[in-house]
Amino acid sequence: MKKIEITALASVFNDVSELSLEDRNLMTKAVEARAKAYAPYSKFSVGAALLLENNQIILGSNQESAAYPSGMCAERVAVWKAGSEFPGVAITKLAITASSTETRVDKPVGPCGACRQTLSEYEMNQKKPMEILFMGETGKIIKTESLLSLLPFSFDSSFL
Ligand code: THU
Repeated sequence: MKKIEITALASVFNDVSELSLEDRNLMTKAVEARAKAYAPYSKFSVGAALLLENNQIILGSNQESAAYPSGMCAERVAVWKAGSEFPGVAITKLAITASSTETRVDKPVGPCGACRQTLSEYEMNQKKPMEILFMGETGKIIKTESLLSLLPFSFDSSFL
C-alpha cells in the first residue's frame, strides 16, 4: 500500500477589485444572471456566466420548481445553453456567484457535485482547461485553473 497526495491549486482574491478586468467583467455578468434566478423555495439565487472561446458570454441562473428535484442549478443551465447554442465551442472560463434573502452569503460558493460532473464532460471534450471563479454575494473569490482540480478521480467516458 502507498499513499498518494492529491493537490489542487487555487487563487484566493479578497474582492472583485483584485480580479483581472476580464474576470471582473465576467463576474459582473454572473451577478446580473443571479438577479434573474427563480428561487422561491430555497431563496438562494445563483448566477453563472461562461466565457466562450468565440468571446460569447452565456448566462444562467438557477430555476426551481414546486416539485423540488425538478429544478436546475445555474451552472448547468449555462453550460447546456452554451452546448446547445454553440456546440463544440470551448468554454474558457466560468464565473459563479450566489446570494440569499435569508442569510448573508459572504463565502465563496463552489459548484455542486452534479455541476462539477457535467462541467468535467465539457472540459474533457474540449481538451482545454476551463477556469472556474466562484464567490458568494460579497467577500473572497476563489479561482481554479481547471474544472478537474475541483474533481479529482473523476468519472468519465473512458471507463465505459
Ligand atoms: N444551486 C445552484 O444553482 N448551483 C449550485 O452549484 C448549488 C446549488 C441552486 C440549486 C437550488 O435552486 C439552490 O441553489 C439551493 O440549493
